[in-house]
Amino acid sequence: MSNSPTQIQLIQPDDWHLHIRDGEIMKDVLADTARQFARAIIMPNLKPPVTTVDLANAYRGRIEASLQSLGVTGFTPLMTLYLTDNTSAAEVRKAKAVGVAGFKLYPAGATTNSDAGVSDIKHCYAALEAMQEVGMPLLVHGEVTSADIDIFDREAVFIDQVLEPLRKDFPGLKIVFEHITTKQAAHYVRDAQTSGKNILAATITPQHLLMNRNAIFAGGIRPHNYCLPVLKREEHRIALLEAATSASPRFFLGTDSAPHAKGAKEAACGCAGCYSAFNALGLYAEAFESVGKLDKLEGFASFYGPDFYALPRNTKKITLVKQAQSIPAELPLGDATIVPLRAGETVAWSLA
Ligand code: DOR
Ligand code: ZN
Repeated sequence: MSNSPTQIQLIQPDDWHLHIRDGEIMKDVLADTARQFARAIIMPNLKPPVTTVDLANAYRGRIEASLQSLGVTGFTPLMTLYLTDNTSAAEVRKAKAVGVAGFKLYPAGATTNSDAGVSDIKHCYAALEAMQEVGMPLLVHGEVTSADIDIFDREAVFIDQVLEPLRKDFPGLKIVFEHITTKQAAHYVRDAQTSGKNILAATITPQHLLMNRNAIFAGGIRPHNYCLPVLKREEHRIALLEAATSASPRFFLGTDSAPHAKGAKEAACGCAGCYSAFNALGLYAEAFESVGKLDKLEGFASFYGPDFYALPRNTKKITLVKQAQSIPAELPLGDATIVPLRAGETVAWSLA
């Protein structure tokens, strides 16, 4: 492939980290994702959270009804459960039996709807033991929550205080370090000695590949560029871009597209989350092109995720074209609207 192609073909990608919420607004956001991706890992941080197999089955039913109302076929939601201090080994086994894709660890208080999350990982050891045994992935929001740790350091401190001890205690547990944002996380995942293949991986969002923390404060406060973990310094963005384009199977696509209505973002205490689903693939293509690595996009977007989760790769192909797409200032979200990432600007690549 030349270094500056104007179109690229790839096996259809999947989104390995996605929020679609529930109720009326779900179909507005699902449509954007289903246009681009074949499958997505559906985050369980609803109100109340999806903590049991029964709740996940019910949620899957509502997602399928929503897809049907949109006339979408050929999109598969991959369900996850929300880990709590009380998750039992029996629930883990039950989840494995019905094809739940993973359990999500939210340290209590770390982010949106994480109040019911884990207060101390030690409370989860019976569940983690079972997860290790049956090959159930643990999806990790990797930030410590103590108020005395600077918000920009919370991910790096999490590695030392939580992740490394956890991996020592459960060397065979499959772990996805979700939406990594720092050089420390990228290097930790890259360099980790593991007990086998597909034991440790990380997802990376488009916003963390394209922006650094200046974007939150460019000319004034920019609530639509605020997500958690928060954007970091430029040196971290560069390390993430290096990891994503390195063709290491440990790094794959997860948008963390996280819809919040415009009013909930543009507020005195605005919610965390960037809505990237509208043209997520275009954003990733821009990032890869910026370092001349478009030829590495397919592995990151379409191969390493299913390989890690031991699912078949997709077979259908899609084409991305280098054609600027205008991103609307707002999109409908139920009775409200949402401001997508890059609103009012263009993205250099789009789906053919
Ligand atoms: O920015 C974020 N938004 N980070 C998260 O971890 C959660 C997400 C959400 O659900 O809104
Ligand atoms: Zn998320």
